Amino acid sequence: MRFIWPLPLYRFLSIIERLELEKNILDCGAGGPQPPLGLFQEYGYETHGIDISKGAIKLSEEFAKKHNMKLNIVEGDMREIPFDDESFSFVFSLNSLCHLTKRDTTRAIGEMMRVLKPEGHLLVDFMSTESSYHGSPSLGKEVGVGEFQYIDDDGVAVLHSFHSEGEPEQYFAGMKIIQTVKTITENLSGPSSTIDVRIEYYSTKQV
Ligand SMILES: C[S@@+](CC[C@H](N)C(=O)[O-])C[C@H]1O[C@@H](n2cnc3c(N)ncnc32)[C@H](O)[C@@H]1O
Repeated sequence: MRFIWPLPLYRFLSIIERLELEKNILDCGAGGPQPPLGLFQEYGYETHGIDISKGAIKLSEEFAKKHNMKLNIVEGDMREIPFDDESFSFVFSLNSLCHLTKRDTTRAIGEMMRVLKPEGHLLVDFMSTESSYHGSPSLGKEVGVGEFQYIDDDGVAVLHSFHSEGEPEQYFAGMKIIQTVKTITENLSGPSSTIDVRIEYYSTKQV
């Protein structure tokens, strides 16, 4: 069976496929019904993932079993990654850092850098303050600058964080940013249009 994966994954793959580093990769926030690690497994990478949610891990295990994949996704918190220093050539986290406060984002990206090998590559993305969801009442009250939180039906706090232009650069000390990609998606299918703006940062760990 062939899958279609989110575009940032192909952009990352096209960068790392040109490198001569060991093919092992870690996804932080790796769970869900179509776990992104599947793409890298298709290209011969040894994959590892962590996710904080048992439910998301279960969904990824069902996907892996159905498609005969071994993705190695375990329970873990990206603010304290359960792997040794310099374990991975490649690390990524998509659509997941947006659920952390900015203070925790600093911690999580620091952890991703710790487990990266020298010259290893990192991809992370952020939701932009230019998105129409930024400040939307449905995301709850503002608990910090660009940080919104509501309590869901199960009583669990759900946080969304948004970054302004250039703001994420603070997270990349010790890394060299090699590319940023800003995507603007206008969705016109609903009763009123929405704009989703995301910024991807591709970086490498300096020796
Ligand atoms: C919107 S989903 C995205 C899943 C996947 N990255 C994708 O793009 O399909 C966000 C995931 O991040 C996980 N997550 C949130 N906070 C986390 C943390 N501190 N450590 C690890 N995973 C976390 C959630 O459980 C959830 O599975």
